[in-house]
Order: sequence, then structure tokens, then C-alpha cells
Amino acid sequence: MDGGIEAQLVEDTASGETTLPDYLVNTYRWAYLTPASLLLLDNPVVLTAILWGNLPRLVRTACEEFEPGQRVLQAACAYGNLSPELAARLGPRGKLEVIDVAPLQVAHVQRKLSDFPHARARIADATAPGGGIFDAVCCFFLLHEIPDPEKSAVVEALLAAVEPGGKVVFVDYHRARRWNPLRAPMSLVFRWLEPFAYGLVDKQIPDFASPEARSQFIWSKQTYFGGLYQKVIAVRIGDAAIVGEAAPA
Ligand SMILES: C[S@@+](CC[C@H](N)C(=O)[O-])C[C@H]1O[C@@H](n2cnc3c(N)ncnc32)[C@H](O)[C@@H]1O
Repeated sequence: MDGGIEAQLVEDTASGETTLPDYLVNTYRWAYLTPASLLLLDNPVVLTAILWGNLPRLVRTACEEFEPGQRVLQAACAYGNLSPELAARLGPRGKLEVIDVAPLQVAHVQRKLSDFPHARARIADATAPGGGIFDAVCCFFLLHEIPDPEKSAVVEALLAAVEPGGKVVFVDYHRARRWNPLRAPMSLVFRWLEPFAYGLVDKQIPDFASPEARSQFIWSKQTYFGGLYQKVIAVRIGDAAIVGEAAPA
């Protein structure tokens, strides 16, 4: 780790709450909280296997939702090349802010972003991301790893981080189509390794928002790979278009 990254981490750790959620410690320590996790999982061969070869396509479909020059929040670190691809997409006039609860993951993504001075990472929980208002938010494979009450808190907090016209993009697991041969094996994977993923199989992402927040967005969904993955986009409606609000006379 170079001095610059260390200084950034110390500063953010001192100013932020860094308590690790129980679900992360109890269910995902092996995947995110030890140096061996990085060696084991941040590896193209392993990531290709985990996502059945779909990582490049899912990264591409996430990144194409953002425009050069935007200020974007990435709601948690991800293995692979999402963050550098996103930083490249936003360009030097844009700004990428990556947050994560795990200091190890923040240090790791800082290294990946060292060629992008307009990108930074800091320690924060996606239920209280901080950093003010963003043009857009990217939430990539976070929801399936957190319990349903935290899913609601994260969805609500990320929706609150954009103004009218702002966009929140979720890419994650979804209920595979009945004919998809991966439906049964993935159900076993969820049972053994990813117990909170069932929330995304049983419910739609907008259902994790409160009715009030949900009504302030236009929602759309696209699925991939026989329904196993989804991209859900929420665009905040302009003030005058919010249901129930009178237009000026
Ligand atoms: C985005 S998720 C899954 C990413 C996916 N498996 C991959 O690597 O492509 C993994 C990250 O979420 C982080 N995380 C879990 N709960 C979080 C929360 N409430 N706020 C911010 N980060 C969180 C973990 O520390 C971990 O770095």
C-alpha cells in the first residue's frame, strides 16, 4: 500500500463508523475480510466460473448506464474490473466515489483505481453512504449478500442519494426462468453459500423501497442469461411529476 492510500484510509476511518455488519462477519468473512479472500476470489478464472462467464457483459451493461462527466457513487466494492471500467467511463471530468464497510476492500479498490485521480474509495456503510447527492448510483451484486431488512435500508438510502433526473442502477441475481438448467444448481449455491440471495428470487427490487420512495421513481428491468441476472434502473421523477403533487397554476 502506498503512503497516499494509507493517508486516505486513516482519514476516512477516523471520521466514519466502520463497524462490520454481523451478516458480513458471520456469512462472508471467507469471501471479503481476509487477505486470502482477495487472492482466492479476485481472480478472472474464479470470477468467470462464479458468474458463468457473464462478468464482462454485466460490467458492460452496468457501465453503459452512466455518462462521462457524472458524479457517481458505487455502493460497495466488487471483485473484477467494475470500478476501473466505471472510472474510465466517467472520464476525468467525472467523479467516482466507491464505498465499502470493509477496510481491506477499500484499500484493495484504491490500488485498482490508482490510475484514475477522479476516483476515490472510502469506508462507509451503504445504508448511510454520505457524500451528499450524486448524479447516479451503481449497486453491483450487493443486495443478494445482505439480509432483507438491510436490503430495504440500502435501497432506501441509495434512492435518497439522487435528485430528480438522477438514476440508481442495480445489477444482481434474479429468479431464473423455469426452463433454465442453472435454476436448480443455483438454488443449491444460494442455500449453501448465499442465503440472502433468496430475497431477490422471491421479491422485486422496487419492493424493498418504501411505497413513498418507490412512487418517486420510474422503474425498469432487464434480465440476462435466462433470467438469472437482472439490471433494474430507477430514475427519480422531476418534482412536478410526482404523483399527488399539484402542478403550478
Ligand atoms: C458488492 S458485494 C458482492 C460483489 C460480488 N460478489 C463481486 O465481487 O463481484 C461485496 C462487497 O460488499 C461489501 N458490503 C457488504 N455489506 C455492505 C454494506 N452494508 N455497505 C457497504 N459495503 C458492504 C463487502 O465488504 C464486500 O466488499
